[in-house]
Amino acid sequence: MLVDGKAIAGYILEAVAREVTALDYVPKLSVITCAPNFETQKYLEMKKQKAGAVGINLNVVELAVDSVTKDVTDCIEQVAKESDGVLVQLPLPSQIDREVVLSAVPVDKDPDGFLYGREEGACLPPVVGAIDEISTKYNLDWASKKVIVLGQGRLVGQPAASYAEKNGAEVTIFTKETFDQSKLKTADIIISGIGQPHFITRELVKDGVIIFDAGASEDGGVLAGDVHPEVAEVASLFTPVPGGIGPITIAYLLRNLLRLVRQYK
Ligand code: GUN
Repeated sequence: MLVDGKAIAGYILEAVAREVTALDYVPKLSVITCAPNFETQKYLEMKKQKAGAVGINLNVVELAVDSVTKDVTDCIEQVAKESDGVLVQLPLPSQIDREVVLSAVPVDKDPDGFLYGREEGACLPPVVGAIDEISTKYNLDWASKKVIVLGQGRLVGQPAASYAEKNGAEVTIFTKETFDQSKLKTADIIISGIGQPHFITRELVKDGVIIFDAGASEDGGVLAGDVHPEVAEVASLFTPVPGGIGPITIAYLLRNLLRLVRQYK
């Protein structure tokens, strides 16, 4: 079954829009970006469009390509004073220390939930929020399921693995380097955030597998997932790219912003 991410995002966004209407001011989300790549630009366009549609002011701050860590942390400090949320768009160029930057975002201004599991009051990271929405909608039971997480990134792999563990799953994490193809067939649920187009093919997975594909990357000018679309034919649940996890993640991010407004403003 194909997950209709746009429909799920649609009802989240409707609720966000209703909440925004009830406020007496326009909430503001600042997005800091540095040397944005193709995927980042796509995400930014989508975030801007969706934020505008629900009445949120999305303010993009683009830093010079040669910015260093302190430029980014200074910028965070400054924009945090005048925004309800601050999002540092990943990936960042290699001269910037990502962990230093991400810990500079105060928990009460962090709709990305980078401090989830580390600090009280952190938001659920949007990708995990998207997985959670889908799990609720389709009554997925994670307890004792064999889950393979591909990737260990801060946006997908790390938070998704802790979500699966918290829900009682048996979790194995592979990176591009440690990936063992033969193991993929043992998985009941695969969560992929590796960023390699159509890397997982039909013969690698078992029939009835549940696929959460959060690995959007560029393939010849279009957005492609980590999982080949033909896998949908054998999967019991499949999130396509585009139109699966991506739109829900953006909606969830905006929902998180409203949560910060409610909780901390
Ligand atoms: N890069 C791609 N998606 C995202 C996102 O949701 N948050 C951040 N911080 N960076 C991203």
